[in-house]
Amino acid sequence: MNNEELFKNIISHSKEYGFIFPSSEIYDGLSAVYDYGSYGAELKNNIRTYWWKAMVQLHENIVGLDSAIFMHPTIWKASGHVDAFNDPLIDNKDSKKRYRADNLIEDYIGKQEDKIEKEVEKAKKRFAEKFDEALYRTTNPRITEIKTNIDTVHGRYKKAMEDSNWADLYQLIVDLEIVCPISGTKNWTEVRQFNLMFSTSMGAMEETSNQLYLRPETAQGIFVNFLNVQKTTRMKIPFGIAQTGKAFRNEIVARQFIFRMREFEQMEMQFFVQPGTELKWYEAWKEKRLAWHHSLGFPKESYRFHDHTKLAHYANAACDIEFQFPFGFKELEGIHSRTDFDLKSHEKFSGKKLQYFDPELNSSYVPFVVETSVGLDRMFLAVMSRALQQEKLEDGTTRDVLKLPAFLAPVKCAVLPLTKKDGLSEKALDIFNKLKLSMYCQYDEKDSIGKRYRRQDAIGTPYCITIDHQTLEDNTVTIRDRDTMTQERISVDQVERIVLEKADIVSALKKL
Ligand code: GAP
Repeated sequence: MNNEELFKNIISHSKEYGFIFPSSEIYDGLSAVYDYGSYGAELKNNIRTYWWKAMVQLHENIVGLDSAIFMHPTIWKASGHVDAFNDPLIDNKDSKKRYRADNLIEDYIGKQEDKIEKEVEKAKKRFAEKFDEALYRTTNPRITEIKTNIDTVHGRYKKAMEDSNWADLYQLIVDLEIVCPISGTKNWTEVRQFNLMFSTSMGAMEETSNQLYLRPETAQGIFVNFLNVQKTTRMKIPFGIAQTGKAFRNEIVARQFIFRMREFEQMEMQFFVQPGTELKWYEAWKEKRLAWHHSLGFPKESYRFHDHTKLAHYANAACDIEFQFPFGFKELEGIHSRTDFDLKSHEKFSGKKLQYFDPELNSSYVPFVVETSVGLDRMFLAVMSRALQQEKLEDGTTRDVLKLPAFLAPVKCAVLPLTKKDGLSEKALDIFNKLKLSMYCQYDEKDSIGKRYRRQDAIGTPYCITIDHQTLEDNTVTIRDRDTMTQERISVDQVERIVLEKADIVSALKKL
């Protein structure tokens, strides 16, 4: 299966097996909004819980928060979102399609980079063992020409973005002769600025109402509660506040399934530190967060850091943890050293002090902040991208199997009577009713046992327990492993321990 097929398969598998549905589907859907089905809700909960426990439960100096989505509108003025949370957009007059101007240029650069890779691949085949890739990349005239072009384009692009100079950005699109992928023409409008926040109004009377924004990040709820939390939990710096919750962005180009949504969920942590120590903590959090991603057990080559060269106005260091999605390496998590920008700005706009009295220094200061911010839906997509596999079996058939880390699996164990007759159902139900107290398990007696195994493989259930006639004689069952498909006979009393050993979150937390 190539990457394009894999991506299509993830979308159709998610729908068919109750992980993700397009929102409002019977009304033809709502662009870039999705609903999570029964198994999707379980998987999403499990990812969220794993993040929460890894951050809050395992760190004595991190505490949680659940702030409201609606916030005072001045907060978004103070945070810079009203003035600066913009994307440059451009329309093609023929197709009437709207694009992010920066994406058009990034796609152009991406295509140039692909050309280099194609040149290298061709040369690899031509020169076989004698091929010196590093030398070829630096000396081949065609490659150096493309590289010089990329550098020039990138330089102009970076400057235009940094200066928010939309006329220059437009000129770059014209100079590069970028065409609309739909109409194939270069008939563009000028580049305009578009604020990504959704707004609504509060109060019964439209005229007297206040305009509110749906939060575009959860972080500001943490900043404005900084002192409330610090005082009530008696935290000392350095300490962190973690929160998960919905965020909303009116993305111009919302695509790639749940990668870029208009309503999504974030898992964010703001770590408050003494000024001057922030870069040390920034490095520490980069490593910690990468280790958390690696702990899921997917290949380490699927992750990489991407350091930002263009820093936001509030940051003095920033990077992304990128993940290799089926459509290439893309941002999964952001780690930002946000200085004291947010707290200072809220002090200014609210007129209230947001300072910490440091008993060791015997003085007060506005702390600096290191932020880790990961999208829950993107994590979901990353997990599905690696877990979904199509396997050819010895008998020539194929199976779709979701090789999820067991502790993330929606259903931990399926309890299956071989037949409904001879008291096997009753025995199986008895086992199921005991197991369900300690884990989410499923009872299924419909269809052949083979079909039931396949259904559980497709939703990622790590273990199937089968109750047969021998169970009635000696109180043993077979336990089938999802990944190896091997079966073992064990005593009923061992089932809970064996399943939990692998599928309980504690086993995963221990490894962190
Ligand atoms: N508080 C910092 C902040 O919001 P961000 O890089 O804009 O930083 C953080 O967003 C993370 O939120 C991203 O790394 C991504 O995982 C997720 N995210 C952002 N926009 C998203 C969208 N439209 N759809 C899904 N996830 C999104």
